[in-house]
Amino acid sequence: MSASSPDFILEAVDIEKSFGATSVLRRADLRIARGEIHALLGGNGAGKSTLIRILCGLLRRDGGTLRVDGQEEASPNAIAVVFQELALLPHMTVAENIYLPHRHRGLERVRAAERREEARAALAQIDETLAREALDTPVAEIDLHQRQLVEIARALSSGARLLLLDEPTANLTFAESERLFSILRRLASRGIATLIVSHRMNEIRAVADVCTILRDGRTVVNRQPLTELSDAAIVEAMGQKGAMRAETAHAAIRATAGTTVSIEGPGLSVTLPPGSVLGLAGAPGGPSRLIDTLIGANTDLHWRIAMDGALRHFAVPAEAVRQGVGYVSGDRAEKGLLVTLPILDNVVAAARIAGRRWFAGRREARVTQDALERLAIKAGSIDDSPLTLSGGTQQKLLLARWLERIPRLLVLEEPTRGVDIGTKREIYAIIRDMAARGAVVVWWSTEFSELTEICDRIVAFDLRGTVSGVIEAGNISEVALARATGMAA
Ligand SMILES: Nc1ncnc2c1ncn2[C@@H]1O[C@H](COP(=O)(O)OP(=O)(O)OP(=O)(O)O)[C@@H](O)[C@H]1O
Ligand SMILES: [Mg+2]
Repeated sequence: MSASSPDFILEAVDIEKSFGATSVLRRADLRIARGEIHALLGGNGAGKSTLIRILCGLLRRDGGTLRVDGQEEASPNAIAVVFQELALLPHMTVAENIYLPHRHRGLERVRAAERREEARAALAQIDETLAREALDTPVAEIDLHQRQLVEIARALSSGARLLLLDEPTANLTFAESERLFSILRRLASRGIATLIVSHRMNEIRAVADVCTILRDGRTVVNRQPLTELSDAAIVEAMGQKGAMRAETAHAAIRATAGTTVSIEGPGLSVTLPPGSVLGLAGAPGGPSRLIDTLIGANTDLHWRIAMDGALRHFAVPAEAVRQGVGYVSGDRAEKGLLVTLPILDNVVAAARIAGRRWFAGRREARVTQDALERLAIKAGSIDDSPLTLSGGTQQKLLLARWLERIPRLLVLEEPTRGVDIGTKREIYAIIRDMAARGAVVVWWSTEFSELTEICDRIVAFDLRGTVSGVIEAGNISEVALARATGMAA
């Protein structure tokens, strides 16, 4: 049983892991060959992040075998994880972040200039411009995509031959993801392997060679070339139902009751009758100013909002909530998840702010249970911390907040970030249902396929954050969006 091939940089066999009574990995297998780009797939809560934490030594396995280069005594630097919550020191420069983790060998003293040069060389392999222009810039001043590249450079300069990337594109724009993929391909051609997790099928197909699929902690597809698997077969292996590709751009929903919302600002004047689903497309800068105004987070005087013809100005978020404005952000850590409170409080938070006093006690528990069921949220108990939930499941929890009483205006900022394919479909259906019952929906997403599927009108913002056009139902397509946002490849 110890047959191991030196062609594999990593072999993980029969890996087991439990948290308390919950068994999360049940004899999971994963083998990664040198220089391959390997996708690790599975629904929310399947065990992907747990497996990655075990592979890089952050978490101890309960059972199973790990071999790196065919050896059980792994060399600590061969595998490097690039975290989603990035692990750089913000006040230190790019160069310092790359060379600081290196260990000193014996009495060897390396001069700072030499180390800086080593860091430059490592970064230049990945991005020459960044190496030339940002080497002495504090990490706090470069953007997220660039920080990711710095992390990769750091891993490589420590001798990593396998990179573990857990949903690396979740916070990237389309163009940034493309750049990351081309870097990964270049590294692959030099023998450096990547394990990548993503819930975006088109990305997986664009970048990965083979995949391993986890389902409830078990390996159900082991190292299969992606060309041999259809989307439907992948979704089925993950244990999810639902058609893969739904009808494109649906007809506008006509709701009989509800509020009409008008938005006016530089380059834009739209009236949204009840049931409208308005998409916002483009790099986050432009849409986020409008979104902040809609939810009372930060009033931008350029944008004016009216509900049923009456001008509204939300000085604080609570006021927006009381006026019937719902909000779900994909940036769950910063905007929305109450990490110190149990799951129940996270679900009923909005209703409490809206000031419904009768909404208490047993009723809260029931409403919470119903919401968890509707969104297929796997949780031990409604009294557990939301931090015990997988990433995509935390995202679903934010949406659960608005199910009980449908908002008049629902503002969504990448609400499906990290959510698995099957559940995304479910969320689209829930949002359509809310629209049919009178909600006005404003939806920003970096996934054009998502916008084309669910919106009946889309406002495009260009790279400078100004409105570049409004695309009406008949003309909505991914190509049209790429052009209007300046994100065409
Ligand atoms: N510290 C913990 N305590 C209890 N349960 C945990 C803990 N960490 C993870 N789990 C559970 O382990 C299971 C697997 O979680 P994991 O984060 O590995 O899933 P995942 O496949 O990465 O999902 P996602 O696609 O949503 O990121 C989940 O059911 C989760 O609730
Ligand atoms: Mg995860």
